[in-house]
Amino acid sequence: MDLSHTDIDALDKRRRAALINSISGFKSANLVGTADAAGNTNLAIVSSVVHIGSHPPLLALVFRPDTVERHTLDNIRATGAYTINHVNHAMIEAAHQTAARYPREQSEFAATGLTELWEHKWLAPFVAESQVRMALTLVEEQVLTINGTHLVIGEIRHLQVPENALTEDGALDPAAAGTVALAGLDSYYDTTLVQRMAYAKPDLPPRKR
Ligand SMILES: Cc1cc2nc3c(=O)[nH]c(=O)nc-3n(C[C@H](O)[C@H](O)[C@H](O)COP(=O)(O)O)c2cc1C
Repeated sequence: MDLSHTDIDALDKRRRAALINSISGFKSANLVGTADAAGNTNLAIVSSVVHIGSHPPLLALVFRPDTVERHTLDNIRATGAYTINHVNHAMIEAAHQTAARYPREQSEFAATGLTELWEHKWLAPFVAESQVRMALTLVEEQVLTINGTHLVIGEIRHLQVPENALTEDGALDPAAAGTVALAGLDSYYDTTLVQRMAYAKPDLPPRKR
């Protein structure tokens, strides 16, 4: 198949969304935990976590345009705090269900059976079932003029990782933590490490670690 932009434009709306939502390949599966100013909690699955920088440690999220109610985005703006929690095998069904459009007063924690974990006096709950958990502070929000999506950048203030999911040089091995990968909006994948490579240098051939 070889599609031009006019071919893509002419696709049936649902087929186009299915193709374009998945064409960027594997994404990490994460749950964003938040609470409003009164402490009412919210949980939403996202596939858009992106590394922005490591010192300071920054991650970005892309949120859909706020033409309808966006509880997670509202809560992040209200408290400046949120958590990002990896989805693992055992959590797929509950994590996916958080995408349902529940009313504002209904917490996705209660609706899906996932467990709130309050630590570090953070104004947002972690997900107890996640193996990898982060607490972030909002540092920047950009509305992208091209389509009205919101780029939300946060700094990691706390990070919780099981010791056995760290490599000898300190990196996270997401497969060892049972973290799953996502394609599009409905497909969850198991992962296995294929190969670790040494730092690439122009004067040296590719080397395994
Ligand atoms: C697999 C999957 C990935 C998603 N990723 C995102 C995302 O990156 N950004 C986003 O705004 N919504 C994403 N969504 C949709 C949200 O989960 C959904 O809109 C949710 O209801 C938002 O909840 P809220 O209004 O309580 O914040 C995703 C949905 C699914 C099923």
